[in-house]
Amino acid sequence: MKVAIVSNGLQTESRSRILARTAYDDLTKRGVEAIFVDMRSFHLPLCDAEEQSLNHPNASRLKEIFQSVDGFILATPVYNFGPNSTLKNLIELTGGAWANKVVGFLCAAGGHRSYMSIMATANSLMLDFRCLIIPKFVYAVKDDFTGEGVSPEIQQRIEEQNSYLLKLCAALSPK
Ligand SMILES: Cc1cc2nc3c(=O)[nH]c(=O)nc-3n(C[C@H](O)[C@H](O)[C@H](O)COP(=O)(O)O)c2cc1C
Repeated sequence: MKVAIVSNGLQTESRSRILARTAYDDLTKRGVEAIFVDMRSFHLPLCDAEEQSLNHPNASRLKEIFQSVDGFILATPVYNFGPNSTLKNLIELTGGAWANKVVGFLCAAGGHRSYMSIMATANSLMLDFRCLIIPKFVYAVKDDFTGEGVSPEIQQRIEEQNSYLLKLCAALSPK
C-alpha cells in the first residue's frame, strides 16, 4: 500500500504543512510507504484546459505519483471558505489521476467558522472522480499548534484519520 501526503500551504511557516508532516511521520512510523508531496517544490501553471498547462512537466510528474498511490491525505490552508488555490489548481491539472482513490483532509484555518469549507472540494472529488472521502477530517486553528508540533487532541485526530485511510485503502485494493 502506498499513500501520498500532499502539502498545499506555500507559506514558509505553514501550519497546514505541520499537519501534513505529523500525518506523514505517523504513517512512516507504522511502516506505511508514504510520499510527502510539498507543493512548494512543484511550480505549476494555472489550469486553462490547454495542453501547455495540462501537460506541463510538473503536472505530468504529479500525475505519475498520484496514479501510483492508493490514497491521499490533502493538507490545505482555508482561504476564503475553501481550500487554497494551489489545491484547487492541482486538482484541475491532475484530476483523472485521483479516480477511485481514498481521500482525507487536514485543514489549517484562522477560525472555527470555516469548518465546512472543504465540503465543495470533497463533493467534487467524490462526484467527478469517484473518490472515497474519509467522513471525518482534521481542522486546526492557531491554538492547536505548539511550536513546531500539534496539540495531543489534533495528534489523535490525525492518527485516527490515518487509521481510517489505511483501512479504506486496504478494503478497496487488497494486496
Ligand atoms: C487569503 C486568505 C484567506 C483566508 N480565508 C480564511 C477563511 O475563509 N477562513 C478561515 O478560517 N481562515 C482564513 N484564513 C486564515 C488561514 O486559513 C490561516 O492563516 C491558516 O493558518 C493558513 O494556513 P497555512 O498556515 O498552512 O498557510 C485566510 C488567510 C488568507 C491569507
